[in-house]
Amino acid sequence: MRLDKLVSQAMDISRSQARGLVLTGCVAVDGQVVRAMDAQVDESASLSVDGKPISTQTELHLMLNKPAGLLTAARDSRAQTIMDILPPQLARLKCMPVGRLDKDTEGLLLLTSDGELAHRLLSPKREVEKVYEARVEGRLAQEDVQAFEHGIVLSDFTALPCTLTILSANDEETLAQVRLHEGKNRQVRRMFGSRGHEILTLKRLQFGPITLDENLPVGEHRALSAQELRALREAVGLG
Ligand code: URA
Repeated sequence: MRLDKLVSQAMDISRSQARGLVLTGCVAVDGQVVRAMDAQVDESASLSVDGKPISTQTELHLMLNKPAGLLTAARDSRAQTIMDILPPQLARLKCMPVGRLDKDTEGLLLLTSDGELAHRLLSPKREVEKVYEARVEGRLAQEDVQAFEHGIVLSDFTALPCTLTILSANDEETLAQVRLHEGKNRQVRRMFGSRGHEILTLKRLQFGPITLDENLPVGEHRALSAQELRALREAVGLG
């Protein structure tokens, strides 16, 4: 990449400000001052400005174990959002959540700086599988499993057939897993609601080939491994 572009991206400053830094000899590449703003620089090179190293990372792909109670949104002056628990460099890299989890939903939320990847993961026609664990009020029965299998009719659309597995049940509550291939607004809550079961807790465990890391504490994030990123890209035809 051109040096002025790399500096401007890395520091989140304008291209002309970056050129100023390069021309005045403030920028070093792998320890050598470079004054040519059109110099081609490898993105893995070490860059420093006035002797201070700056990160040239241009891509970022994360998984967050989202806690309940936070909005999936940009910073908000009234409510806490996931951006309040993520590092500020996300904004510079335009690293955005892949879709939304409701305020009260927890678990796996992917974030990526790759707009095309996010777009494909969310495209209804790709039908990327998501897996949720739901604790719901009351006892679910085989009729509920069958209703999910047939496709639940909601007021504005009919959900695609999906798999409901009852993990444990008593008269007070049921623990169940849902595997579905779409992601409409509050869809899982609405599907259980239509069967007369309110959701007590909802957690996403899987998004396409990515499984929530069980060693990742609630509220923490980590970068996707190269293998996870490859699997994610392959899942949407970007292999
Ligand atoms: N379905 C829901 O109802 N809520 C979520 O957060 C995700 C899927």
